[in-house]
Amino acid sequence: MRESKSNNNESLPTEEVHTPSSQRFLSFTKEAIDNPEEFWNTQAEIITWYKRWEKVLDESNSPFFRWFIGGKLNVSYNAIDRHLLAGKRNNAAYIWVAEDGAEHILTYEGLSQRVNSFAKALLDLGLKKGDVVLIYLPMILELPVAMLAAARIGVVFSVVFSGFGAQAIADRINDSGAKVVITADGGFRRGKIVELKKVVDDALNMTKSVEYVIVVKRTGHEINMVEGRDFWWDQVSNDINAKVKPEVMDSNDPLYILYTSGTTGKPKGVVHGNGGYSVWVANTLKWAFDPKPDDRWWCAADIGWVTGHSYIVFAPLFLGLTSILYEGAIDFPSPDRMWAIIERYKVNILYTSPTAIRMLMKYGDVYPQKHNLDSLRELGTVGEPINPAAWNWYYTVIGKGKCPIIDTYWQTETGGFIISPASYFGFDNLKPGSATFPMPGIDPVILDDSGNEVEPGNKGFLVIRRPWPGLMLTLNKDPDRYKAVYFSKFPGKYQTGDYAVKDEDGYFWLLGRADEVLKVAGHRIGTIEVEDALVGIANIAEAAVFGKPDPIKGDAIISFVTLKSGEVLTPAKINELKQQIRERLGPIMVPEEIHTVRVLPKTRSGKIMRRVVKAVYLNQIPGDITTLEDGASLEEIKTALETFRKEVT
Ligand code: WT7
Repeated sequence: MRESKSNNNESLPTEEVHTPSSQRFLSFTKEAIDNPEEFWNTQAEIITWYKRWEKVLDESNSPFFRWFIGGKLNVSYNAIDRHLLAGKRNNAAYIWVAEDGAEHILTYEGLSQRVNSFAKALLDLGLKKGDVVLIYLPMILELPVAMLAAARIGVVFSVVFSGFGAQAIADRINDSGAKVVITADGGFRRGKIVELKKVVDDALNMTKSVEYVIVVKRTGHEINMVEGRDFWWDQVSNDINAKVKPEVMDSNDPLYILYTSGTTGKPKGVVHGNGGYSVWVANTLKWAFDPKPDDRWWCAADIGWVTGHSYIVFAPLFLGLTSILYEGAIDFPSPDRMWAIIERYKVNILYTSPTAIRMLMKYGDVYPQKHNLDSLRELGTVGEPINPAAWNWYYTVIGKGKCPIIDTYWQTETGGFIISPASYFGFDNLKPGSATFPMPGIDPVILDDSGNEVEPGNKGFLVIRRPWPGLMLTLNKDPDRYKAVYFSKFPGKYQTGDYAVKDEDGYFWLLGRADEVLKVAGHRIGTIEVEDALVGIANIAEAAVFGKPDPIKGDAIISFVTLKSGEVLTPAKINELKQQIRERLGPIMVPEEIHTVRVLPKTRSGKIMRRVVKAVYLNQIPGDITTLEDGASLEEIKTALETFRKEVT
């Protein structure tokens, strides 16, 4: 560890070296804030660079901050090649566990062969640096292989979570201009086949840029292959002796685009770069979880989300760890699946979401108690605030009171953790439900609506005052939106969009979104995005979408819609409608409840009053309704609900 030179904080007792408020942690974070140039000059060495940067940070085009100016590197070299040179050829990079229990160990050597072979395939299809590929795959080894192969040749990739449907894929292809789509015939989920290729075929009817589709054979069921456009993965990735020289990438060249929901109908294409992002994810994994070289790390997220990008693919491979890659649902075929995997593979660190914890907790203690979980040393969580009951269960029943809970707060845009306990420095002072302290280099503050810092203990907007290496480069093809969404409310400062409190001891407590974005099972879903998507499906004319607090998932999506025909649908018809929505948008976007009404409450200018619908739904007083145009609409909602509630009971 790097010892800090500046240590003015004499008042702290020295025996506190194992707490985050310890001298070590304090002086380390102090150095990161006071002397960022020197701090990052050292910390960036966690990555192997072809050419060292000339300058740590360029703020001249703020808020488009650029890190490690002039530095050259390759991400796949850092994830693979350098470990081969360091004698880790035969270490497992991934232990892949199929939903049906099949397993496959992929060593760093094996990963190298597959990545080189697939990189050559991409080159043979004519792809070159700066082109974009879209990846729509289940949790199989070809997914990280495809990402690393693209990174190897400087091709920008955009992964779309396999729970999204044709419309979402088409929108992402059209925004990114992807030339190639990488998918599979299908995936397995709870023993059933999820059609993936078929969804891609539908999406391609709405796009123009795609020249080729590469299809992994996973399920083996019959699918449609278009002559000259569609190729099987094995057909193109057939040279296991291929050696593809890593492209020398500039620190600030784009690495990937990952779309995330915002407060408009159009998802935001978050662009992450090569240099700063890599430095950030590698260091934050090290600081937060302090993994040992031979650890088995299981980030039980899906690679389709940023959690999987940063902490299943890049950071653990940069650090040379062994990761579990699990294909299926964590409670399938039985509620002890997660615990069985931990026992069988002696997992040391488990990183999952509050939704998963609450779900597994509901099944009962008997399931974890059937398994030996002694290998666990640390437990992590991400995606939403964790409630004390879930925290305590995780800590006592799973961790047996000996594993710290690393509650990592971050976002797609931040690249990696920004507020999290830092076990690298030791600790014994966690507060259940708090993500604790900022990662080194993060400078958070809680502001009120007019930009003044609030007193400790008060709720406000969580804002980061200065850039850090993991911050996105921009929003794809939309720099103005990047500035407007993140840097305009509090000029020059990064607005997270979350509410938070900093307590008297300096701990941060995250309180949820401050905007019209829901967190459904930890996934960000914009209410307006769902509304826009619903309108136009079947004969939906208008939609109001909001979140209902859900004891397991955080938020559940609820929608009220009007139909062009003016009808009010029967439950059977509503199920048909749900099916149509599922096909178009994918399971992830389907509202849990759809209510059809003849009118929705609107302002005189015709704006749907989502907040009023929600208040009536939740049986709360709808607040100011003086602008409401037609009071009868409230009665409509009540009637629809009464019918619905009668039917479910
Ligand atoms: C939003 C970002 C970053 C990986 C997963 C989600 C919420 C995330 C926490 C946490 C409380 C959290 C915030 C944030 N969030 N982690 N530990 N405690 N809230 O990525 O889809 O970009 O969502 O998730 O609301 O803004 P994402």
